[in-house]
Order: sequence, then C-alpha cells, then structure tokens
Amino acid sequence: MQYSVTPDSIAEISADCLVVPVWKDGGLGEEAGALDESASGALRRIAASGDYLWDIGDTHLLHGPKGCDAGRVLLAGAGAPGEFGAREAAKFLAGAARFVLARNMPQVHFALADLEANGPDAQWLAARLAQETEVAAYRYETTRASTKRDAVLEGVSAPALADGLEQALRKGQAIGRGMNRARELGNLPGNICTPEYLASHARELADAFDALSAEVLDEAQMRELEMGSLLSVAAGSVEEARLIVLHYSGAGDDSKPAVLVGKGITFDTGGISLKPGLAMDEMKFDMCGAASVLGTVAAVAELQLPINLIGMVAAAENMPGGKATKPGDIVTSMSGKTIEILNTDAEGRLVLCDALTYAERFDPACVIDIATLTGAAVAAFGNHANVVLGNDQELMDRLLQCGLDCLDRAWQLPLWDEYQKQLDSNFADMANIGGKLAGTITAACFLSRYTEKFSWAHLDIAGSAWHSEGARKGATGRPVPLLTEFLLSLAEKD
Ligand code: BES
Ligand code: MN
Ligand code: ZN
Repeated sequence: MQYSVTPDSIAEISADCLVVPVWKDGGLGEEAGALDESASGALRRIAASGDYLWDIGDTHLLHGPKGCDAGRVLLAGAGAPGEFGAREAAKFLAGAARFVLARNMPQVHFALADLEANGPDAQWLAARLAQETEVAAYRYETTRASTKRDAVLEGVSAPALADGLEQALRKGQAIGRGMNRARELGNLPGNICTPEYLASHARELADAFDALSAEVLDEAQMRELEMGSLLSVAAGSVEEARLIVLHYSGAGDDSKPAVLVGKGITFDTGGISLKPGLAMDEMKFDMCGAASVLGTVAAVAELQLPINLIGMVAAAENMPGGKATKPGDIVTSMSGKTIEILNTDAEGRLVLCDALTYAERFDPACVIDIATLTGAAVAAFGNHANVVLGNDQELMDRLLQCGLDCLDRAWQLPLWDEYQKQLDSNFADMANIGGKLAGTITAACFLSRYTEKFSWAHLDIAGSAWHSEGARKGATGRPVPLLTEFLLSLAEKD
C-alpha cells in the first residue's frame, strides 16, 4: 500500500473516493463544508436528512458528486464532536478503511482536517490512518482458499495539515505491518509454526535488512550453556528448541541496547501436566510474545530507528512423551539456580528464565519480556489489557504512557516481596508455580529472580494477544504498537 500527503484542496482531488466525516446530527466541518459548496449542497442534504444519526460506523456512499473530481464521497459518521478522542478516531479510521477495502476503490483520500479540529493531532491521525488500513487489509489465507476477494487498495492520501505527516504515515504503516507479521505467525498452526520455523523466519528477516543480523542457538549449543530450564520444556517434543537472537544496530556501539524477549511456545499441551481438551487448539497462540518481538524488530528496522535493539525468542514445543519432564523433576537453570518443576504447564517462565540470563551478556539498557504467561491474567483483565510488572518503576511508567498514547494499553500489578515466598520449595531453590492465588504475580516473581542485574519489565499478554470467538478468532498483533511506541520514545530521547 502507498501512503501520501497531498496539498490539493479537497474538491480537486481525483481519488476514487473521498472519506469525509459527518458529526452527530449532521454537522459538517470546514473541509466537508468546502466540498459541499463545490457539490452545490449535495453533502449537506444527506447529512441533514435525518436518515442517519452519524454515530461512528454510520455511512452513506455518494457516487459521482457534481463539482468535485473524485469518483465517490463516503460520508462517514464521527459521533459527537465533543466526544471525539483517540479511541473514537481509531474506530472511525478502522471502520472507514474496512469500508473502502471491501469495495472497488484503488485510490482513497481521507479528509482528516475536520477530525483534527476536534480530536487528536494531525500526526497521530496520519499514523493511525496507515496503521488501521494495514491491519484492515490483513486476511489469514496461508492454509485456506481465499474467501471473499477484497478489492485492491493501492494508495491512500491525507491532506497536508502539518509537518511530519509523511513520516507519521510511514510510522503507522510500519506498526500495522509489524502487527500483521505477528498476527500471521500467531495464526499459523503448531504443525507449521515450529521453533525452527520461527528461527527461519528470523533469518529471513535479518536477510532483508542491512542493520539486522540473526543468531540461532540449537539444543547442543544451549546444553553447552547449561540452559537446563529451557531445555526441560522441549524434552518431550520431537521439535528441537531454538534460542533466536536478532541484533539490530541503528546507533553507535556505545549505545546500550534495549532487549525484547518473547515467549515462543509453538504449542502448549501442558506437557505431563496435560491441559484439558476444551479450546486447547488456542495454545498454538502461545508464541504470540515471540511473534510480537519479530513484528516489532521488523517495524524498527523498517523505520531505521537510531537505537540498538536485541530481539530474542525462546522457542520450544511443550509436549508429553517418554522423555518429557515430570512433576517433581528438578532442573538447573543457566544462572545455576535449581527449579523444582511442580507443574509442567508452567513452562513459559522456564524458557524465559534462561533467555533472560543470556540477555545479561548484551549489557542492556532495559529488558522487556513479552509472554502469554498466565490464565490468571485473562481471568483478571479479559482481552483488553496487557499486564505489566517489573523492577523499574520508571520503565513501567513509560510503558504505561506509551500504551495510552497508542491505545495498546497496559495495567500494572504489584510485585511485592510478600508474594515471593509462594515459590518456596523444600527440594530446590524455587518451585515453578506459586499455588492458587495471584498466579500472574507469582509468575512474575519467578522471572524477577533472573532479572536482578538489569532494568526489567514483564508484559503478560495472555489476554490481549488473541481473540477466541467466532469470526474474530485469531491473533491481534498486540503488543507490537506498545513496544514500537516505546522504542520510538527511546529514539527521541537519545
Ligand atoms: N500458556 C499458558 C497460559 C495461558 C492459558 C494463556 C490460557 C492464555 C490462556 C501457560 O503456559 C500456562 O499454562 N499457565 C498456567 C500456569 C499454572 C500451571 C501455574 C495457567 O495459567 O494455568
Ligand atoms: Mn502452559
Ligand atoms: Zn504456555
């Protein structure tokens, strides 16, 4: 898709469609008003007809309006002007993008000026326009016949409202594409998307960008490093584990890297502590943390951000089997700490802890791990929030703020010392589960024992990473927007 900014006035734009907001009860903004004048009042007649409330989602498509160069005008409800914030703008843009993608309109112009007058600034709107358009254009087709073929949308333009709009469009497009990369990897079934598949994907990504290189550790190399915890998760599977490390260098060698670590369980059966059958297919999404790392690294590389970044993926398949780890088994992690594995279904923390220890060698500015870690996070927050915990309040505050800015929101839980004792074991330095209570917190407590040497935040995305129901079932691409927004904020700070 091509995105551009045009200085032309709206009546002179020869797109296949102009998307023009109409406010609740039929009010037109300045730009829509100008278009209406050229069209001898045709817009106002429809807007004020009373046929529509002009809530967000209400639309009327006008063909061949007189006095303008465009083939169509889409009048799109924007709701009440006083209530038009970032979330409303995102909903408006997503709805309009879906509308034009479903029809034969290769060139579309979005009249953003009237939105800007009431809501978020022009750069935010432009970025969001590109992001929502990319996200709306994605369809999972890899293992199925393409269903309804969407028309091709070739180009989207926006008015030249302010400086930096071209860059904003590029930013939004990179985030949208990063989300779609994460969605595709998440949606792929476990028999295709294996640990080695993720590794090949990372290698291909590295080949596509000069600033990116990939390093992949196999099981023999991990055994050499004594990653007994990570390896114990893969023990029951015929698929070999992989530790994937992507190096992005966009800044000088003296600039410490941010490190992202993704949980990449390509299928989580629970292992010997086998999960119940209901909805177990959804455990193919248990690598969505890894997918978000790959999507974010791709977005950063595309945007050529002036930062250093390491993207790590701890990839394994959690299966029962003759060689599988059993409840009560004790393993030694790379750090030397021993772990009593009381439940083989608490495997995410077991792969992450060794990856986190490995991250120490990069002398990180900060480390963020991203994991579909606990069902308790879904129970507490449903599908809406990323859950954040960590050992550095400044880092977490920044993530919380970035989440608000890009609408990929996070909510913090406490990582108080009192919770740590739930991990006590009589036979090892710690157990891998903390009992019935506060499951999301005790999982983070476990990780906190591997992150003492750096500034660290943990994102539990078990609720936000995918939708379970009906036509919406599939990976969401979250938290690629949050992570990219965060890295963009680092790029601006330095
Ligand atoms: N991948 C799951 C977490 C999960 C479950 C995410 C359901 C989304 C939906 C994780 O590996 C897991 O099984 N966690 C256990 C931990 C428990 C055994 C302490 C859980 O949350 O039940
Ligand atoms: Mn599990
Ligand atoms: Zn899992």
